[in-house]
Amino acid sequence: MPEQPYEAGGDGEWPSPERGREPGDGSTGERLQKVLAQRGYGSRRVCEDLIAAGRVRVNGQPVRLGWRVEVDRDHVEVDGHVVSVRPGLVHYLLNKPAGVVTTAKDTHGRPTVVDLVPPEPRVFPVGRLDADTEGLLLLTNDGDLAHQLTHPSFGVEKEYLAQVARPLGTGALRRLREGVELDDGTTAPARASQPEPGLVRLTIHEGRNRQVRRMLEAVGHPVERLVRVRIGPVTDRRLAPGSWRLLTDDERRALEAATTTR
Ligand code: URA
Repeated sequence: MPEQPYEAGGDGEWPSPERGREPGDGSTGERLQKVLAQRGYGSRRVCEDLIAAGRVRVNGQPVRLGWRVEVDRDHVEVDGHVVSVRPGLVHYLLNKPAGVVTTAKDTHGRPTVVDLVPPEPRVFPVGRLDADTEGLLLLTNDGDLAHQLTHPSFGVEKEYLAQVARPLGTGALRRLREGVELDDGTTAPARASQPEPGLVRLTIHEGRNRQVRRMLEAVGHPVERLVRVRIGPVTDRRLAPGSWRLLTDDERRALEAATTTR
């Protein structure tokens, strides 16, 4: 298996999306085209065209040119993809080492993923990796994006490399691809390959608990080591275990775009 990293999941610790104040009515705040342009959707002119074409919704409603947004409480979407407009949002990509738990606070005093990123602003893991699983995990204070990434109706792909003790036969690979019967139901079709004997590359878009481990166990190949190497469009082979970096604007936009309804 390559030295490291490769990929992450949600965990019910998110604060309520309620922000305590009513959304704006379009007459106050910042001009929508300016906000979209700042978030990389093109020049202001291009963003005006997006709005005029009816491709932009605020709080679920299509809006017209001239609309203003309250960036701390309005919910903005372009072509159905959530746009992170609130100031102060951070998106970290962490390469989680084994032995670190994916929770904001561990009741047993074990090191947590939150201990590995800056303490301020407070962020939360997006989804969950088992304590023994390594690889890429997102942490953010962007509740909208986190919700989109973890909600079952948005199937963002996650790719894993799993080390098992013995090479898989074609039958086992086919079962992984077609769906494996687990105690909480049959898994959706997945991509599965074996780049080298005993190393499985598995791409899934469901986020069930311990899914990869259970799938491989069910086909007779318990996992010895598991590394997440990709979350949707985001990957990073150079990020060292225990290290983090900020997502680039392009990566954040690509992730937002990857949250398509299935
Ligand atoms: N599947 C697993 O089995 N474990 C993880 O940590 C992530 C996906």
